[in-house]
Amino acid sequence: MSKRLVLTSSETSQVKLCRGKQPSLACLRMLSPVGADFMAFVRDRSFGTILADPPWQFQNRTGKIAPEHKRLSRYGTMTLEDIKSLPVVHAAADTAHLYLWVPNALLPDGIAVLQAWGFEYKSNIVWHKIRKDGGSDGRGVGFYFRNVTELLLFGVRGKNARTLRPGRTQVNYLKSRKREHSRKPDEQYQLIESCSRGPFLEMFARGERDKWTSWGNQADESYEPTWKTYANHSRSGDSAAAGD
Ligand SMILES: C[S@@+](CC[C@H](N)C(=O)[O-])C[C@H]1O[C@@H](n2cnc3c(N)ncnc32)[C@H](O)[C@@H]1O
Repeated sequence: MSKRLVLTSSETSQVKLCRGKQPSLACLRMLSPVGADFMAFVRDRSFGTILADPPWQFQNRTGKIAPEHKRLSRYGTMTLEDIKSLPVVHAAADTAHLYLWVPNALLPDGIAVLQAWGFEYKSNIVWHKIRKDGGSDGRGVGFYFRNVTELLLFGVRGKNARTLRPGRTQVNYLKSRKREHSRKPDEQYQLIESCSRGPFLEMFARGERDKWTSWGNQADESYEPTWKTYANHSRSGDSAAAGD
């Protein structure tokens, strides 16, 4: 692990105890139920690239943006400590890439999670949410500014962890239209597959995807959004054809 990483003692012990493919009893004891579920799913597999979009908890948990908003009932969230304590290092190959979605308001938490999982922050990709006419889609929320972008943090671990050749010309910017609440753009998969080595693991996935191993409580084939936030949500088929 890089010397530049600054981990708390509990994070350091999590990384050390859960590193091997035969996790120690102490590692298993430290795990939350979600961590144990993740560990059981991963078994002895190693992934060259991990993409994660955690169910972050927002400070304002009753506002319309909050995933756990009662009436809109989207999905449960996890505390920062529970997210940090996931034994992601157990799933990572010795040399691996991590792509981690983080809301703008929680950027410091995103970096902390990336480090707790045993990665070193390197860069990020900006997702610009646009309207059909290409302009910024300002229908989102924001207390200080109206957010029309989201960040996908990029971290690495191990030796020779540079991106593949296409990464050297890949700009750190994606633009696409929004779909349902918290849904990320499908364009991310092609970008990641061309810049990073497999096998590919998606954590907190919705649905399943070719070439990817998907984990999460909505990561099954039959996943369909149960709410309609935007007209071009995933259930409406060809998003380009769906007007709003
Ligand atoms: C931010 S959303 C992911 C959105 C997804 N990346 C997309 O583009 O549609 C977080 C996901 O984590 C799932 N989740 C919440 N708590 C979980 C848990 N304890 N274990 C596994 N998945 C969980 C939620 O159901 C939700 O699907």
